[in-house]
Amino acid sequence: EQQPSNRMIEAHELLKKFYHHLLVNTKEGQEAYDYLLQRGFTDEFIKRFEIGYTINSWDFAVKFLTKRGFNLEEMEKCGLLIKKDDGNEYFDRFRNRIMFPIHDLQGRTIAFSGRILGEEQPKYLNSPETPIFLKSKTIYNFHAAKKAIRKQEQVLLFEGYADVIAAVGAECENSVATMGTSLTVEQAKIIRRNVESVIICYDGDGAGIEATVKAASILQEAGCHVQVAPLPDGYDPDQYIQEFGALKFRQSVIENSLTYTSFKLRYLKRGKDLQNEAERMHYIDSALKEVNTLTKAVEKEHYLRQLSDEFSISLSALKEQELQINKVQKQ
Ligand code: CTP
Ligand code: MN
Ligand code: MN
Ligand code: MN
Ligand code: MN
Repeated sequence: EQQPSNRMIEAHELLKKFYHHLLVNTKEGQEAYDYLLQRGFTDEFIKRFEIGYTINSWDFAVKFLTKRGFNLEEMEKCGLLIKKDDGNEYFDRFRNRIMFPIHDLQGRTIAFSGRILGEEQPKYLNSPETPIFLKSKTIYNFHAAKKAIRKQEQVLLFEGYADVIAAVGAECENSVATMGTSLTVEQAKIIRRNVESVIICYDGDGAGIEATVKAASILQEAGCHVQVAPLPDGYDPDQYIQEFGALKFRQSVIENSLTYTSFKLRYLKRGKDLQNEAERMHYIDSALKEVNTLTKAVEKEHYLRQLSDEFSISLSALKEQELQINKVQKQ
């Protein structure tokens, strides 16, 4: 098995700088650069996040690395190159993509994610798991956000790179992302070592909601206090910020975050017609089960009162039914 090496990281650092140069200063990078500007990325943020572009070539990185004396076998092991099926030749993993460098917790460049300029698939191509890129322990932008996270005693957790970059642009410096994959126990532990309070700000679609539920339970297991930022259906944070601006994002989304219980009570309503009596009863039933999982009496009372107001049902009836859940479970 290949060990992590400084040469692997050095190759990533050098390519990161060159990809950035290609994007910002060359004719080859013009289309990618225009694409980013049109999406609302500014010069300042392209620079700050060291975004780059790699040309449409099978051997650009092969030549670049060979010229600088890198061992190509080692470069294959760290995900930059792919070995041809027949023989010992290599070709570039990333071609004609916008390159987002990924850093480890110390800020060393350990991987890339390359975005296609249009709508083709895969939208993002990522470095594979390598000796320097341990995906389950990597959190996008954590190295840069760490100071703000500790100072504000809060972290904002997003799905994607564009979301983090837009959020930092909206002066939310404490922003990080899980990079599409579901949050791992290791990532949750890294977060908890630095901060207790987490606001999950995933995309406002079905996948985002599912992922929120999973991430929240892993974070709570790790000892974090979880809130959920409400996004309108169909928006992701990046789109929201482009459309409504930074101030509205901070005020209506981040500062308006729901407790995890409120989020779940809202989530349980999805697809239900609460005007329909049977569906309404079913909702109240599942809401009470949710309230039943709470350990703090004050929190229980708070949500039971909310349900009481919302559905004009007496608090005592709700309490009684909530208590019965325990009895049924104990049988
Ligand atoms: N992702 C990935 N591979 C894919 C699609 C997504 O690794 N083929 C990861 C990326 O980290 C991406 C995140 O999942 O940022 C969230 O996916 P999605 O919401 O689809 O992408 P966006 O971040 O919204 O990307 P964009 O705004 O560029 O369309
Ligand atoms: Mn998504
Ligand atoms: Mn709480
Ligand atoms: Mn998205
Ligand atoms: Mn997006």
